[in-house]
Amino acid sequence: MKLFVDTGSIKDIETIAQLGILDGVTTNPSLLAKEPGDYRDNLRKICGIVKGPVSGEVTATDFAGMLREGHDIASIDPYMVVKVPLTRDGIRACKALSGEGIKVNVTLCFTAAQALLAAKAGAMFVSPFVGRLDDVATNGMELIREIVDIFDNYEFPTEVLVASCRHPIHVVEAARLGADIATCPPKVIDQLFNHPLTNIGLENFLKDWEKAHAVKA
Ligand code: E4P
Repeated sequence: MKLFVDTGSIKDIETIAQLGILDGVTTNPSLLAKEPGDYRDNLRKICGIVKGPVSGEVTATDFAGMLREGHDIASIDPYMVVKVPLTRDGIRACKALSGEGIKVNVTLCFTAAQALLAAKAGAMFVSPFVGRLDDVATNGMELIREIVDIFDNYEFPTEVLVASCRHPIHVVEAARLGADIATCPPKVIDQLFNHPLTNIGLENFLKDWEKAHAVKA
């Protein structure tokens, strides 16, 4: 399963990219709005760091505006993926942009029916938001199971990009269900590394090593 980071922070992306486990980046208007500087320059820098798919989202809500912004976002760098919302105009824009060979990520997906529409419109990625579903007492991971089943039935090439991951269990469950990608905030990627027994174990190995060498010396 591929691991993307969900952030617009160049500093965080640089730090995580150094770990060698980062496959791509997702951003959204809320995340990019937090970053200083021009968002196109920032996206270009991010592409240069990650050298993998980087999603940048349109803010237009009408078909023509989405096409215009989609072309602009795609022109920033060959790694750019145009993110469109799962609306009628968004699905129409997905079909048109995908038809031109532009990579599209259909975002704000909350049902399997919506995911099916994104796949039919030729999306490269569809982004179901598991955390936001959990927030409204609906099992987000159950949606991932449904989408993976449907895409497997028809061999849709659209990749299931599990978004709005809030904790490591979301990532593990996404992998168990066979999702293609999980995108997580930097904090969740950090949490994937952590286990107290790893820390205690390492501390004890080093203590024992030092003790043995202190005796010999
Ligand atoms: C996906 O691409 C979105 O940017 C993101 O995962 C939303 O996550 P949130 O629900 O934590 O804002």
